[in-house]
Amino acid sequence: MSDRSQQPGPSGGTPEGPAWSGREGAQAFAAVEAATDWLLGYPFVLRELAGRIGAGQVLVDYGCGPGRVADHAARVLGARVLGADTSPQMLELARASATAVAGFHLVENGRVTGLPDGCADAVMCNHVLASLPTQDALLGVFTEIRRLLRPHAPFVLLTTDPACSGTEYASLRIGEPGEAYAPGEEVTVRLRRTDGTWQRMRNHAWPVGLYPVLLERARFRDVVQHRPSVQEVLTVAAPDLVAARPWSAERARPPLVVTTAVAA
Ligand SMILES: C[S@@+](CC[C@H](N)C(=O)[O-])C[C@H]1O[C@@H](n2cnc3c(N)ncnc32)[C@H](O)[C@@H]1O
Repeated sequence: MSDRSQQPGPSGGTPEGPAWSGREGAQAFAAVEAATDWLLGYPFVLRELAGRIGAGQVLVDYGCGPGRVADHAARVLGARVLGADTSPQMLELARASATAVAGFHLVENGRVTGLPDGCADAVMCNHVLASLPTQDALLGVFTEIRRLLRPHAPFVLLTTDPACSGTEYASLRIGEPGEAYAPGEEVTVRLRRTDGTWQRMRNHAWPVGLYPVLLERARFRDVVQHRPSVQEVLTVAAPDLVAARPWSAERARPPLVVTTAVAA
């Protein structure tokens, strides 16, 4: 039987606010380990970007959170990285620690403040969409990202696949074993903290097949989806990370999907 009736803790995306909102939410996300993401997610996002933007070009990290990935991207790609987020508290954390990031912008009423149309040579968006409650909200994010991009510029999206629910990965579990989730249904995600305990967060189960449809509606083309596997990792991720754990669940059923598209 599932524990769908159990509510996440006080920093777990309460009915009063979206996931990771407020100071407590920002601090909670900053404490997660994200090992599975650093194995099967972020390195593949950067691999997509590395071939498509050059040093000094503008990369926007939409929903940058505490800025760890933005900071890493700035150092690895040499791009001028700008972070954008709806949470002033996340941006505050990012400003304090993501020192390679060139600037931060608040997202207000669905629009990134201070960034004009077509200013970005590329946009990445990592683990943002699962916190959105409706398809209209997803489309709104894609439309805003499309506004930021110059024509023909790339967009790289990293998401979890709710079809992988119930499996315990190194640093995450989506929902409950044996449960299937309808599109947009609430699902509790558990993320492992650096101290080994688990953070619970209420998210929404968006099927990965929905993204191409919405991206095309938001004037993107050439949408491609890729599910990174552990076999591929040695070509992109740090070998010591690969050697650190057996990654049994990640090998059996990789849970992350990278979607790429081009601004039409
Ligand atoms: C799970 S965190 C991911 C942070 C970062 N991208 C990473 O992968 O480490 C999700 C972030 O998306 C932000 N967010 C949620 N909805 C957003 C929206 N509509 N526009 C921009 N940011 C949003 C949250 O405030 C939070 O910082």
